Amino acid sequence: MLDILTVLKTLSDKVLEALNTQLNNELYSAYLYLSMATFFDHKGLKGFAHSMKIQAKEELSHAMKIYEYINDRGGRVELKDVKTPPQHWNTVTTESLAIYGGDGKVYK
Ligand SMILES: [Fe+2]
Repeated sequence: MLDILTVLKTLSDKVLEALNTQLNNELYSAYLYLSMATFFDHKGLKGFAHSMKIQAKEELSHAMKIYEYINDRGGRVELKDVKTPPQHWNTVTTESLAIYGGDGKVYK
């Protein structure tokens, strides 16, 4: 017999799928920031590149929080393909960061 706390901690299939999808979104977001970091590194803009790498690590930390959340509730993490991010940036502006790299994209 399951106690109420065990039942409450168990993830439904729908929630588990949504969490696994969000984990993939967080990994993709990290990829986007890393792609931008390569742009700045290539241009010799080390400070900007460093900032993008920090953002990438933050996105990875979000992914790991979801990973642990799923595991803590007895679910199975399913890693999916991570989409290739844009490879070529003519410019990286605040606007493009908001469109491509920000959490607004991840949570849509
Ligand atoms: Fe995130």
